Amino acid sequence: MNSSAAVDRSKIAFFSTQPYDKIFFNQYNEFGFELDFFETQLNPQTVTLIQDCSIVCVFVNDIVNEAVIKQLAEKGVKIIALRCAGFNNVDLEAAKKYNLKVCRVPAYSPQAVAEHAMAMILTLNRKTHKAYNRVREQNFSLNGLLGFDLYGKTIGIIGTGNIGKTFAKIALGFGCKVLAYDIVTNVEMEKDGVIFTDLNDVFRESDIISLHCPLNEQTKHVINEKSIALMKDHVMIINTSRGGLIETACVIEGLKEGKIGYLGIDVYEQEEKLFFRDLSADIIQDDAIQRLMSFPNVLVTAHQAFFTNEALTQIALVTFNNIKSLLTQNDIENKAALLV
Ligand code: NAI
Repeated sequence: MNSSAAVDRSKIAFFSTQPYDKIFFNQYNEFGFELDFFETQLNPQTVTLIQDCSIVCVFVNDIVNEAVIKQLAEKGVKIIALRCAGFNNVDLEAAKKYNLKVCRVPAYSPQAVAEHAMAMILTLNRKTHKAYNRVREQNFSLNGLLGFDLYGKTIGIIGTGNIGKTFAKIALGFGCKVLAYDIVTNVEMEKDGVIFTDLNDVFRESDIISLHCPLNEQTKHVINEKSIALMKDHVMIINTSRGGLIETACVIEGLKEGKIGYLGIDVYEQEEKLFFRDLSADIIQDDAIQRLMSFPNVLVTAHQAFFTNEALTQIALVTFNNIKSLLTQNDIENKAALLV
């Protein structure tokens, strides 16, 4: 089959799509794929929606476990294209077993996520969200809005890949001391002034801890009762990575005791039942998120750290390029993009 024919005949089924996904993927569909958009999440029930598709495109909360992968293979799907960087929701072993290729977008805009992490820090610290509402009600008092200088504070970063590295530069720009823990030390970052140390040191020494590692067996619940006990009183914890890095019940305890002074989360352990939807008229059954949202020193955003024009453009371009490369060469030049 020649390469353009391989692309021409290919239909991509997109799951968990929002209006903005349709806009960006339609705009950058340079290779002329046929695009089928489903708003629903991919899971063992919704797999049946796929018809005559050799490619599925999924996002962070789609369920791509062995049961789903088996059904995908039976339906003739050959490629699972993630339109995100994290891939903890995909059973890669099962994909191998059923001979499916899996690709992702490894680094579409580390700046988008790193800048959002810093936005969360600034909001929690300087309480601009409260000031905005206050002033609109003609309350010009400053009581309760006291913050601290970021300059000179210690920021601890866990995971210094694309996003952690970018975030470190921003933190250094603010005049912070930057500590980092990663399974691999980054020499370039050390030259820039980042101090690599062990994980417990990051917990002990940091005024602010920002999580930028992937969710896997080693990192699951890295923020737990023990690690919180090591932290400074009134520590600020920021998670723009994956919800499962934080043991939610322990963080709630830490907040109630006043040990944790601030929490900013863009991701949440049980987010797949909540995020990317308007539930404003519903009764939320998840008591943990309701408790979290009741604290005045907790800021929750709904997995929006990636959500910039630049990032969505890159996501669409790279996803289509990945698929085209797999169809025409059965490979992708950027090895970080090919998971199986
Ligand atoms: P990356 O792959 O470039 O970097 C991950 C880093 O974590 C690597 O340096 C790796 O060595 C390190 N790491 C792996 N295991 C570790 C461990 N046990 N302890 C400490 N460090 C460890 O990934 P990138 O692009 O920086 O993304 C990081 C995470 O951010 C992704 O896995 C994803 O979960 C999340 N993310 C969140 C987004 C959002 O919108 N909130 C958007 C994009 C990514």
